[in-house]
Order: sequence, then structure tokens, then C-alpha cells
Amino acid sequence: MSQQNLEALDVGTIREAFPILQREFNGEQLVYLDNAATTQTPDPVIDAMSDYYREYNANVHRGIHHLSQEASIAYEEAHDRVAEFIGASGGREEIVFTKNTTEAENLVAYAWGLNELGPGDEIVLTEMEHHASLVTWQQIGKRTGADVKYIRIDDDGRLDMDHAADIITDDTAMVSAVHVSNTLGTVNPVSDLVDIAHDHDALAFIDGAQAVPNRPVDVDAIDADFYAFSGHKMAGPTGIGVLYGKQAILEAMQPYLYGGDMITKVTYEESTWNDLPWKFEAGTPQIAEAVGLVAAIDYLEDIGMDRIEAHEEELARYAYEQLAADPDIEIYGPEPGPDRGGLVGFNLTGVHAHDLASIMNDHAVAIRAGDHCTQPLHDKLGVAASARASFYIYNTKAEIDELVSAIDDARQLFA
Ligand SMILES: Cc1ncc(COP(=O)(O)O)c(C=O)c1O
Repeated sequence: MSQQNLEALDVGTIREAFPILQREFNGEQLVYLDNAATTQTPDPVIDAMSDYYREYNANVHRGIHHLSQEASIAYEEAHDRVAEFIGASGGREEIVFTKNTTEAENLVAYAWGLNELGPGDEIVLTEMEHHASLVTWQQIGKRTGADVKYIRIDDDGRLDMDHAADIITDDTAMVSAVHVSNTLGTVNPVSDLVDIAHDHDALAFIDGAQAVPNRPVDVDAIDADFYAFSGHKMAGPTGIGVLYGKQAILEAMQPYLYGGDMITKVTYEESTWNDLPWKFEAGTPQIAEAVGLVAAIDYLEDIGMDRIEAHEEELARYAYEQLAADPDIEIYGPEPGPDRGGLVGFNLTGVHAHDLASIMNDHAVAIRAGDHCTQPLHDKLGVAASARASFYIYNTKAEIDELVSAIDDARQLFA
């Protein structure tokens, strides 16, 4: 992407909407490069949630009073807005609000996996799965007797699609794959994976936690049976995530959580289930968070998802090139391009990633260090931990220069 497009994003104005970016530590202004973990929250989202609590806070679906009606409408319409945002033509029936991506994975694993899987069935994951998917399906495999297989990654950190075609067979019942790897940055060819799964009558679950925040996503076009993401990684609040599911499949599934709101009729002996999506939303839901998520979607769409994608690609390319020029740095994942998202995972020879992050912190540069919830992938890479700089709409090349200069400091300290 050209510099012109990057400027078109108007990062200066965007930054003004994020009050937290003004914070200073040790006299230095915060450089926040931990966006793959959680993004910061702009004023419109904070204001929308504040307005909710100030103006129309009430429980939903339960009251006939004004406040409950207003809250119910906002909460229900939030499902419509999310459906529109991700291209789910089935509308609100296909959008279940969860706590986060992890809960969306667990919902499908428990409500579909425990009931549908058994010995002889196979679950196919990728070697770059986040623990949210890997641990969940691993446990469902153990509980049902289904085998778990992994699509290999190649030396560049891309999925080996020939291997995918080999191991997805008529025994495969579920293919669960990450859309954008939170460790390698790889953007996976998820439509192709979904096609292979469907050729064998398997279902496909795509983990979009690192994709929805920073690129246009169209679930109808991807054709996945399930797709999940988290509000807190896309300028929205914590405490809300989304499970998209094809309506017919959600209809056929048993509920995950039981209780109030997810029923239509209850007797001392029996209960019947509410319509979608409420069947999967037991108890008082995340009302303020749903309002905040809508504000985040409005905010991101105003900027433009394609421009956000271009901005991230540009920053990732810049960071990659700076870090790749350093012979002491090993970078993980593919080279910059359309199949690399806006993050760079790396290690500095001789310095543990935690020490590196700690020295960065002394410079008010916030990065992530550790296994990023991909321990098996780190085992495969032959490292216990890695450092990760991840970018969002408010980051600049100057901030990446700060990162590089802090890395130099770390090298001198440990030399
Ligand atoms: C690819 C991926 N999947 C799933 C998750 C889990 O997200 P959450 O903690 O919001 O459930 C993350 C979070 O880092 C992630 O990066």
C-alpha cells in the first residue's frame, strides 16, 4: 500500500479519540503495541456505554417499562448491526453474543461437539491454533473419543494446504482454523479450508479474533459454519464476543447454558427453547457491552475496514523491514504482504522475550512477551517465548522507530 493511503487514514485525528494514548510513563509517552491482546477504546465507545448507564440502563426482554424497552431494542438491534458488519445475511438469528472468542469456541464444542462427536470422528485443527481453539477441541476429543489432527505449517509459517487436503477426509467432522495467527501474523486461506471441509461434509469453525478487527470480513463469502471474534480486540469493550453460526446448524444444536431468557415454556417437568439467538444467551446478557460493540463497529466502519487493513499492512511491513535488517533478530511468520496481518513476532538473540518486554516498558513501549497462548506452536518454533509488537489504527511509523531504538537499548544492556 502506498504512503498516500496510509496518510489517508488520518492517524492524528484518530489518536485524539483515544484518551489513554496520552498517558506517560517515566516522562515518556505511551507507545502501545499490544493490540493483538487488547485494543484501546475510543471516546465514541466510552460515551455510548456511559450514555447507556446514564440514560437507559435496565434488564432486557423482561420489563414493559420504558427503560427496559429502550435497553431491549438497543440490545436486540446490536445483533442486527453485527450481522450486517460481518455479512451474515441470515441476520440476528445467526449472531450469538458470548463473553469472548474463547466462549464462542466452547459454546460450539459443548453444544455441538459433545453431542455429535464419537470414536472414529476426527477434528482437524492447525498447528497455529490459539489455545482457545486448541485446548477446547483437544478436550472435546478426549471426552468423545474423537481424534485430533493438525494441519502442518511450512518453514515460512504458512499452512501446508496439501497436507490439509490429505488429512481432511470423510472421517473429519469439524475443521477449526484460525483466520489470522496471533503469533505468526499469517492470514490463512480460510475459504479454501472451508471448501475442503465441506467437500467431506465436515463443519468449519473459523477463529476470527485477529481478523475482524482489521480487515473486511464477509462470513457468507467465507461460507464457514461458525465464525468467532472478540469486542475488546476491535476498539470495543471487554466482556463481549460474537459467535456467528449458520441458522440451520444453530437451530439443530442443543443450548449451551440453561436458565432465564433462553426458554419459551417451562413446567416442573420440561422446558422448551427460545428462538435464535436467545436460545444461546441465558441470563442477563452484556447489554452495555453490546451497545459499546455497536459504537466500535460504527467507528471502524467510518474509518473504513479496507483502509484499516492497508494501514496495518503498511505498519507491519515497516516493522518487519526494520527488524529483519537486524542480524540479531529472528522474526516468525511470512514476509510482509497480503497474507501477513498487522503484527510481528520475534526474538532478540541472547535476550529473553520477557526481559526485552521489560526494557521496552522502561521506555513506555508496551509489547507482549510469552507464548501468546500458542505453546505447541512455540515448541515447534523451538523457542519458549517470543516478543510481539502488534499494531492498530492509531499506531505510527515513529512508534515503530521507538520500538527499534528500545531494542537497541536492550541489546546494549545484555551485551
Ligand atoms: C487468534 C485468537 N483466538 C482467540 C483468542 C482469544 O480471545 P479472547 O481472549 O478474547 O477469548 C485470541 C486472543 O488473543 C486470539 O488471538
